Amino acid sequence: MTEKPTFYITTPIYYPSDKLHIGHAYTTVAADAMTRYKRQRGFDAYFLTGTDEHGLKIQQRAAEAGMKPLAFVDGIVEGIQKLWQLLDIDYSDFIRTTEKRHEQVVQSLFKKIYEQGDIYKSEYSGWYCTPCETFFTEHQLAEGHVCPDCGRPVQMAQEESYFFKMSKYADRWLEFIEANPDFIQPESRRNEMINFVKQGLEDLCVSRTTFDWGIKVPFDEKHVVYVWFDALVNYISALGLGSADDSKYQKYWPADVHLMAKDIIRFHAIIWPIILMAAGLPLPKKVVAHGWLLMQDGKMSKSKGNVVDPVVLVEKYGVDAIRFFLLREMAYGMDANYSEEALVNCINIDLANDYGNLLSRTTAMIEKFLGGEVAPGSEGTEFDAELLALAAQTPEAMAKYMDKVDIANAIGEVWKLVAKANKYIDDTAPWTLNKNGEREKLKTVMYNLAEVLRQVTILISPVMPNVAAKVWQQLGLSAEAAGQDWQALKWGGFPAGTKICRGEALFPRIDWEAAQAEQAQAEPPAEAELPKAEAAAMEPVKPEISIEDFERIDLRVCQVIACEKVKKADKLLQLTVKLGNEERTVVSGIAKFYQPEELVGKQLVLVANLKPAKLRGIESRGMILAAGDGENLRVLQVPAEIGPGGSVR
Ligand code: MSP
Repeated sequence: MTEKPTFYITTPIYYPSDKLHIGHAYTTVAADAMTRYKRQRGFDAYFLTGTDEHGLKIQQRAAEAGMKPLAFVDGIVEGIQKLWQLLDIDYSDFIRTTEKRHEQVVQSLFKKIYEQGDIYKSEYSGWYCTPCETFFTEHQLAEGHVCPDCGRPVQMAQEESYFFKMSKYADRWLEFIEANPDFIQPESRRNEMINFVKQGLEDLCVSRTTFDWGIKVPFDEKHVVYVWFDALVNYISALGLGSADDSKYQKYWPADVHLMAKDIIRFHAIIWPIILMAAGLPLPKKVVAHGWLLMQDGKMSKSKGNVVDPVVLVEKYGVDAIRFFLLREMAYGMDANYSEEALVNCINIDLANDYGNLLSRTTAMIEKFLGGEVAPGSEGTEFDAELLALAAQTPEAMAKYMDKVDIANAIGEVWKLVAKANKYIDDTAPWTLNKNGEREKLKTVMYNLAEVLRQVTILISPVMPNVAAKVWQQLGLSAEAAGQDWQALKWGGFPAGTKICRGEALFPRIDWEAAQAEQAQAEPPAEAELPKAEAAAMEPVKPEISIEDFERIDLRVCQVIACEKVKKADKLLQLTVKLGNEERTVVSGIAKFYQPEELVGKQLVLVANLKPAKLRGIESRGMILAAGDGENLRVLQVPAEIGPGGSVR
């Protein structure tokens, strides 16, 4: 027996977060659909996902929860695995960066590269983005002096570190990209990466001493390996590189596709290939970046608090519909807007109207006109050839896109066939054939429709893994006839004489307006409509002021660059804030509500022209605005795109 060709696809490994949102889910659902598609096509497809568990942020969150970091992440990782189960993600392996099998590979790669002189020790000083755990040089920062990857504020930081000689490999990287024009997809990202490298690659700081939740540098245990150097290695550590059994590495590496969103392409398209070059290992074949799922106020992200929970959506609309929506809506390499209304539209139009209706019309007519039996007749119609030609072309048209990981367009090709089949019903008018007693033609038309439905269902099942079973049941297909790989696509595979078994609507239509009205009734009244007694509990509004009075208050955006507790004052924090070019000290009574490190990097609102006051001997120049009361107080935050110093009106 000849060996199957292999296909190895990865998603990024996720930061442990108890609220992965549907933006995160997109990458995983897309990789899962790709894997299922490749399996249908006879590949031995291997799909890796996992979690990226080290770093300062996790260490801090675990400390806040009063837990050891590993115990803290264990529970979250379990939640992530459950979410993937709910979304029917059929991964081949799930790697955690806290596993020994991973740690060993990271340490041995680090040591090898150090010993050959491509990692060296020095002192680092630069702009650090805590959320991305990345240092940037001045010229790498985005407009507004913020992180080029996440747009959040950065801080100046120094530490003794090991450096990876990325600069040494810049020319080799450029040559590689030149020789492999398809390596970075889509094309626009490729150009972006080339420009980035051409501007000059700096050596990369690959160790940290400021926290210890990470993989130790094997020859200098004061240092932990930089999280990205650690995380990227998962793609080969999971395959058992360097272990007693490295058969998976031998079989699947190099990866066919590393899939991710555009914000982390630089790590995958530049840093990762250079690590591999230095280690003397083969490079992956393709790095594909998709766009972001956006909400009205920008990228869906936990830090923005605008996330949509996939669990809620799956419960409400079903897993197949959610998977279909995500993959259909996100055009290749572009961002996509999310709204529940768009989701409902997609369900109503693409699924209920086009696909679901095709099934229900077809099965209803087979039942009514042919007593439920499907078998081709001895005569056809003038419309058959076109339908059959499109059915014959669709798999290749779909494959052309799938092989580029352009799933939205691939679905589009299948939906052209769905639309054609619906039009075929209108063109052939089976009810008229029935009325005129043209039974042979009628049988052929119904057979062709059942056959198109079988083909469409095979093609779409990587996207919606549960529809096939439902459609097979309604079409009366037995388990053997329900083969779902591409060999089963041969026209005429629908066994003649099959008895169909009509069922419920595949995707019932959703009445969006009615659902909205129902939800509004179920929701508690908004604050503005609070019952009188509660509204009365609000502090009375202060006496009216004029706009001129208000304009005397100079409200400014400030960025916290340092923060500490004020000694012997359990309510006070001392903040050093930046306003444009100016730095000042502010004392704020928020110590009960924030740990000092939580505030560093945040952009807050400052009453900048408040008369200075001395608090515990510290001169405070301004006041930080916060909302809430003695029980619960939160500082007002300003999005990163408004730089420090900007005025608040
Ligand atoms: N841990 C790193 C990856 C290390 S890989 C060696 C990481 N994790 S993440 O949890 O923040 O993100 C995981 C994936 O979700 C990334 O591809 C990220 O870009 C993607 N997305 C996060 N928010 C997204 C949207 N709103 N839309 C689409 N994808 C998004 O990055």
